[in-house]
Amino acid sequence: MSDKKNKVKKIFDSIAFRYDFLNHLLSFGTDYYWRRKALKLTGLNSESILLDVACGTGDVAIEARRQGVIKIFGADFSLNMLKLFKKKSNWIKGNNFQMVAEKMPVKNESVTNITVAFGVRNFYDIQEGFNSFYSALKKNGKATIIEFRMPSNPIFKRLYKFYFKKILPLIGGLVSGDKEAYNYLPNSVEEFDEKIKLPELLQNSGFRKIEKYYLTLGIVQVIIATK
Ligand SMILES: C[S@@+](CC[C@H](N)C(=O)[O-])C[C@H]1O[C@@H](n2cnc3c(N)ncnc32)[C@H](O)[C@@H]1O
Repeated sequence: MSDKKNKVKKIFDSIAFRYDFLNHLLSFGTDYYWRRKALKLTGLNSESILLDVACGTGDVAIEARRQGVIKIFGADFSLNMLKLFKKKSNWIKGNNFQMVAEKMPVKNESVTNITVAFGVRNFYDIQEGFNSFYSALKKNGKATIIEFRMPSNPIFKRLYKFYFKKILPLIGGLVSGDKEAYNYLPNSVEEFDEKIKLPELLQNSGFRKIEKYYLTLGIVQVIIATK
């Protein structure tokens, strides 16, 4: 368990300074759309109290602010990612914290929304993470999870696998200087997709309504779970 925690933390601390650039490059800018669409599907407003878990450099929180949310908090265990978030967005200062998603020191029933974009796959204990989300959310609160998945169409899947397993690690490794980190990404997506059933885990934590959406030919899933 803690092996994964240390390994993942090291990876994100190491690639933090190239993370945004590579994210937008390797997704051809589509990552902005995924976050925007997921937040629209969630339905946030100026009354929402949002905790963005695994916030990284803050792109979900930044989009939420664009969509009118005022009270926003960020949580991540990588200090380097949090530093970049603060650099990009002065307004988050004092409201983004270093913490692990599995044991958040957040008051019970204190937020209306939790978001995690491309973070759950990296958790060292997803069930614990979801338990911790459930406790932090107010009644009727929503957890919105954005995560990669493998597409179902067999022809597209083959093309996608080629890009994801051959091209992406090559470019990611060259630009970031950390080959291991960009090998970890495709391997973790495939393994995650085969083994982990997110709706089941969310139900185990007590979430009662679970909605699922697929974006961009099914390479990204958005799951919205209501407490
Ligand atoms: C792929 S990045 C996503 C960042 C951001 N949400 C985005 O949309 O770009 C994953 C983030 O999850 C964080 N992370 C991974 N496991 C975590 C955990 N168990 N607790 C807190 N943060 C975690 C990493 O430090 C990293 O910043």
